[in-house]
This record gives sequence, C-alpha cells and structure tokens, in this order.
Amino acid sequence: MAGATLSGVPTTEAPLLLRAARREATPVTPVWLMRQAGRYLPEYRALRERHGFLELCRTPAAAAEVTLQPLRRFALDAAILFADILLIVEPLDLGLEFARGEGPLIHRPVRSAADVARLKPVDVESAVGSVFETVRLVRRELPPTVALVGFAGAPFTVASYLVEGGASREFLWTKRLMYEAPAAWHRLLEILADATATYLNGQIDAGAQAVQLFDSWVGALAPDDYRAYVLPHSRAVVRALRSGTPVIHFGTGTAALLPLMREAGGDVIGLDWRVDLDRAWEAVGHDVSVQGNLDPAALLARPALFRERVKAILARAGGRPGHIFNLGHGVHQTTPVEHVAALVDMVHELSAR
Ligand code: CP3
Repeated sequence: MAGATLSGVPTTEAPLLLRAARREATPVTPVWLMRQAGRYLPEYRALRERHGFLELCRTPAAAAEVTLQPLRRFALDAAILFADILLIVEPLDLGLEFARGEGPLIHRPVRSAADVARLKPVDVESAVGSVFETVRLVRRELPPTVALVGFAGAPFTVASYLVEGGASREFLWTKRLMYEAPAAWHRLLEILADATATYLNGQIDAGAQAVQLFDSWVGALAPDDYRAYVLPHSRAVVRALRSGTPVIHFGTGTAALLPLMREAGGDVIGLDWRVDLDRAWEAVGHDVSVQGNLDPAALLARPALFRERVKAILARAGGRPGHIFNLGHGVHQTTPVEHVAALVDMVHELSAR
C-alpha cells in the first residue's frame, strides 16, 4: 500500500484528499472548492484583462499560474487544474467561443442525426496537449501535501453544450435529439466518452492525482433517461481510466440520480447543496466517499453566519472517513475573497480530531 510501511507506520503521507478518497481517516477533513480559481480573485481578473479566456486555458505557464493563485492565499488541500470542459471539443470545428459575460457559445450546434454523422473523432493531443503541459508545470510547483485534481466534462454535460449551442435551462434540443434519434445520440456520446477517457488518462500520466468528471447539468434528466442515455457512457469513461487514480463523479440536481451515478462509477460522489449529506451518503453507499456540499451562496454572507452551515455539514458527515469538503457547485464571482479564506480555515478547525 502506498505510503505505509510493513509496521503500519506511514512514511510518506499521501495528500489528505487522496486519503479521504480511499476512505482512510485523516487528521482534518480535506477541503478544496470548485472554481477556486477564477473571477472572484483580483489577480485572476488582472490576468484576464490582458488575455482571452481560451488563450489563458491554452497557455501552460498562464494556466499554471491561475491554478496556483488560490493556493497562494488559502490553505487548500487540493489544486484544480485551470482549463475548461469545452476545450476538448474545439477540433470538432463547431465554432466554440467564450463571449464576455455570456459563457460558452457553439455557433454551429449539433442538432440532428446528420450533424452527428459529420463529426470526426477528436484528435485529443491537438485539442488539449497544452493542458498536459500545464499539469506538469503545476505538479512541479505544488508541495507534496497538496493534491492536483484534473477534470473533464462528462459526456452528457458536454453534449448538452454542443446540442443547445450554449447554456440552457430546459435542455429541449438535447432531449429532442435523445428521444428522436437515439442512435445518433449514442454515437455522439461515444465520441465524447472516447475523447474524454483519453484526455483524463493524459492528465493522469502528466501528474494529476485525482480526476473529477463534471456532469453539472445531468440533474435535468429523469432517472430512466439517465439509465438509458447517459449511464453507459459515463461508465465507459470511468472504466477506461488508469486504475489507482481516484475519480470524483459530480453533478447538480442529482438527488434522484445518486444511486445511478454511483453505478456509473467513481470513488467519490460529488453532492450539491440540495441534498442532506448524510442521507445522500446513505443513498450512494458508505463504501464510496462523498464530496460537498455547502451552497456557494452561503459564502456571500458573513463567516459567522456560514460557520453554522459548515458545522451542520461536518455533523452530517459524522467523522466518518471519506468526506471531502467542497461547495455544492462553483464559487460565485461576487464572493468576497476573505470569506473563502475563512471557510478553508473553518473546515480544518472544526473537523480537527
Ligand atoms: O477553479 C476551477 O474550478 C478550475 C477551472 C474551471 C473552469 N471551468 C474555468 C472557467 C472548471 C473546473 C470549469 C469546468 C466547467 N466549465 C464546467 C463544469 C463545472 C461547472 O461549473 O458546472 C462547465 C459547465 C463549464 C463551461 C463553462 N465555462 C461555463 C458555463 C462558463 C461560463 C460560466 C461563468 O461563470 O461565466 C465557462 C467559463 C469559465 N470557465 C470561466 C472560468 C474561470 C469564466 C471565464 C472568464 O474568465 O471570463
């Protein structure tokens, strides 16, 4: 076993996040935050004034710097690679753009079986070779106690952007394709699942110690639709990954999908704030770890106020090994920086055993 001698005395302690992902007991609960790098940080905004978003993502030195920015301020237990879930689809030539203030746009969306038939498999190296270099640069800078989390979008969530052409509330184009042209839908998700597995294995080979699969919008689906149209593809990604690297499987609005997400795979299931952590953990089973699940909006109020919510989450985790503290979704750009600092310290203080 990594990090242990025959006498059971640990020599080189693995990062807390990796130990929690294996459900080992840790002295404090590890904490990191989705979108911990980004617009709420003045040093990120300063870089963004001079560089486009895709340019930042694709320039290894810049992306490594952005990844490390929150680590310089806060006692986080993990860094998350700075990149985006849509980088991988750029070679599909669908007109990907990050418009200011609008989020991602796809100018030529994939809406029919004929559109899917025109897609070629993704050349992963050309799409995201620079991301692998970012991983190498970041890993070199991080202390051994801090884990580097790589990530990719899950096939459903990435497909939803390709089909909708951007963000969506109801996912009507996506569901229409799924229901009306199931063979094309499955082909589209296969193309994405293949590329995603290669992408994540590339991140692992470059030094990512855990990977998170973001299925951010999958909560839009009925459980039967998840089972039929999504689960096989998310499972194919997880199964294709190098063994030994923990996989965090995350989505939002997933209260009714948690057992199915668990079935699809992952060592850690990511929870949003719409579920009670203890009940959700029961639903996925105590033989996996869980990550979450503070409402990101809680950080807009004073630390004295969100402290109670942090306590409540830790109480629901009940000191059971295998809890990684996180928000239920990403940090909002209006979050005061001092509140993030207070949260990270609070989790360590309140969970110390
Ligand atoms: O710190 C981190 O978590 C790492 C960086 C990261 C980004 N995107 C940077 C980013 C990660 C993990 C992502 C994943 C991502 N991207 C997801 C899944 C996570 C989630 O939030 O659900 C999704 C759905 C996307 C697609 C995407 N990229 C959207 C919807 C947007 C716009 C959202 C917004 O807040 O405006 C982006 C742009 C984006 N990705 C930004 C950042 C820092 C803002 C871009 C900017 O600087 O203008």
